[in-house]
Amino acid sequence: MRLVVVGSQWGDEGKGKVTDFLGQRADVVVRSQGGNNAGHTIMIENEKFALQTIPSGIFNPHIKNVLANGMVINPKETLKELANLEARGIKDYQLFISNRAHVIMPYHIMLDGAYEELKGNHKIGTTKKGIGPCYADKVNRIGIRIGDLVDEESFKEVLSETLIIKNKELKMLGLEELSFLDVYNEYVEYGKKLKKYVCDTSLLLNEEIEKDSNILFEGAQGSMLCLEHGSYPYVTSSSPTAASVPVNAGIAPKYIDHCVGICKAYTTRVGEGPFPTELQNKLGDLIREKGHEYGTVTKRPRRVGYLDLVVVNYAKRISGIDSLALMLFDVLTGIDELKICIGYKLNGKEINTIPATLKEYALCKPIYIELKPWKENINNIRNYDDLPQEAKTYIETIEKYTNIKVDIISVGPERNETIIRRDIFKK
Ligand code: GDP
Ligand code: IMO
Ligand code: MG
Repeated sequence: MRLVVVGSQWGDEGKGKVTDFLGQRADVVVRSQGGNNAGHTIMIENEKFALQTIPSGIFNPHIKNVLANGMVINPKETLKELANLEARGIKDYQLFISNRAHVIMPYHIMLDGAYEELKGNHKIGTTKKGIGPCYADKVNRIGIRIGDLVDEESFKEVLSETLIIKNKELKMLGLEELSFLDVYNEYVEYGKKLKKYVCDTSLLLNEEIEKDSNILFEGAQGSMLCLEHGSYPYVTSSSPTAASVPVNAGIAPKYIDHCVGICKAYTTRVGEGPFPTELQNKLGDLIREKGHEYGTVTKRPRRVGYLDLVVVNYAKRISGIDSLALMLFDVLTGIDELKICIGYKLNGKEINTIPATLKEYALCKPIYIELKPWKENINNIRNYDDLPQEAKTYIETIEKYTNIKVDIISVGPERNETIIRRDIFKK
């Protein structure tokens, strides 16, 4: 079976936990877009791991972990991430990196920072990892791919040509130009270290499909950060939708069997941009503290708001979400003013979708329904029926307004703190 995990909000919904949980049944775990802008937290027996580039199957020696062609990969940071994992005892793993994935180079990181600064008040609030400039070079056909990096001759050729252009850009922005030899000497070493992992991952994945392996596609970011469908320009530079998986992994669309939307029980967002249900008050602060809502990558405080089902329904439309995994549900215990947004009011009219323009989206006012709070601790509950009635009503309200079944409910960060209502990843 091939299962896609997508973030249904603005990222940080708990994709890492779900991928790790479902990964117990996986033969292959794939990251197909984004790069080290992602921060996926996995708790294994009270030990916390925060993965950025590496897929969440890395802890299981039987799982093949794939970084597919649609990713942008920072070789230095990837090697650091692997070294950190090895220092913590994760030594026995299988990793495969696409020779077609693009390389995040030092100038991408410099340019990410410079463009943000130039935008001033209109900055996106990027992770400053060079993601946007790297994807821009890919589209502009001046990118460097992993296949080039690991071949000394190709790397020399492509880097010398590319640096001529990039140095002009750096100079224009008042940044220091880069020396070919410095960059070459540093990066050629990273290439040598990564070479053993590099292959045609599309070929590998199609062979696994032939064998009927269980493949889990671990999404990064969230639907509202999608370059095509998100709250543009306050988005990332790739498409974190189920529809993007085939092109980003080199498999046919017909092979996707099921899509699980990861949905935080409330909403968070890091970085700038519209957020209709945002709570800029004490309640927002309380949820932020209870949910430890601080960025995994940048440590920035996450903006917090009520659950917005217009957003979740939009994610359902663009990704075809078949099931929901409701995450951080325990955080809502004891929150006594509970609301869910079921629509927006725009210029006096009720709407149920996301307007394309920032101007209109900024004018949207949430339409809420109020829900009854519950006080009982739910961390130890493993059966749906044992949840307090008010908590069940919260879940049933989500199902009613999205017409998607909540098949997984997460009541704590640990793998076992999970309520399963339907087996969605069959072997
Ligand atoms: P991702 O980017 O979608 O993988 O999510 P992050 O790892 O950035 O953020 C999710 C955070 O919530 C992490 O700190 C997780 O350990 C934590 N988490 C996941 N599920 C639960 C849950 O059910 N309850 C609580 N309290 N924390 C959770
Ligand atoms: P995971 O996989 C939350 C946000 C950034 C910024 C915008 C653009 O952990 O859910 P970028 O560096 O990608 O150019 O930044 O996208 N962003 C994320 N927010 N979770 C993520 O990943 C994110 N990846 C990027 O904060 O607003
Ligand atoms: Mg995250």
